[in-house]
Amino acid sequence: MIDNIINEIEKLKEEKNAIILAHNYQPKEIQEIADFVGDSLELCIKASQVDDADIIVFCGVNFMAETAAIISPEKKVLLPDNRANCQMADMVSLEELKQKKSENPDSPVVLYVNSRAETKSEADIVCTSANAGKVVSSLDGDNFIFAPDYNLGTYSAKLSDKNALIVPEDGHCYVHTMFKVEDIEKAREDHPNAKIVVHPECNDDVRQLADYVESTGGMVRLAKDPSIKELVVGTEIDLATRLKRENPDKEFYPLRRDAFCLTMKLITLEKVFECLKEEKYEVTVDEPIASKARVAIQRMLDLS
Ligand code: 13P
Ligand code: SF4
Repeated sequence: MIDNIINEIEKLKEEKNAIILAHNYQPKEIQEIADFVGDSLELCIKASQVDDADIIVFCGVNFMAETAAIISPEKKVLLPDNRANCQMADMVSLEELKQKKSENPDSPVVLYVNSRAETKSEADIVCTSANAGKVVSSLDGDNFIFAPDYNLGTYSAKLSDKNALIVPEDGHCYVHTMFKVEDIEKAREDHPNAKIVVHPECNDDVRQLADYVESTGGMVRLAKDPSIKELVVGTEIDLATRLKRENPDKEFYPLRRDAFCLTMKLITLEKVFECLKEEKYEVTVDEPIASKARVAIQRMLDLS
């Protein structure tokens, strides 16, 4: 049955000249059929480079598909489930961002890629968790406006030695803020020989106790380091799936087994098949918004 669906997906992909991009949090079976698996930055770069495909099937959440549609406007971008939302992306409204800008007219605006297209259109530059420090360091002045993740805002301020004006004050990821100091303490006890890596979306007290703070792409690279034999992984559960797949001789322990991003798991093989067959659900961004957001995304890509 599964083999059948995979064969059908392969056939449709060829027929329609489509490519499948998948985020590192996608379930194993989606990672396995994808042409490319990566973090938000790697997926954005890939989406900007797929010149020979007509369709991009985006296995991830909607801000990722929106970003691909903005950066590759000539492609049809499909999201296999149109409910695959990232809660954080909706945590800052256009009005709140504009208000912060009017209060701080001299501060550049950095939007985390986990945000909606209309808020990106108000940004000077976009960042991901992989390049936030580099992006913020590239800006003039001591202050910068940051939205919507409070934790990534404080982390990039620390990396760049600048002051973050974060909007809103409670923007967060419900998966990464689950991790607590007690989880780190327990992991140290349970796995005394393992290193601990956490995502920048985690709270500062958790980040401070970890050995490394990395984007999901950074975790993939870290896991390949010969000095790493055992790694406790403080991010969404399926990142460990990719790490184990690529490093079968090493041990990976999720920092919490309940760290699920529920909307990432809405993508299934059946939905990828339907998506390719029916060419649904197309993700589009109105050109007046897209053209402004594209400038902010391209500035980030130029730094990468
Ligand atoms: P990465 O860019 O590190 O893959 O993170 C994306 C994300 O949504 C984290 O929750
Ligand atoms: Fe959004 Fe958190 Fe899911 Fe990442 S893990 S997509 S930030 S809800």
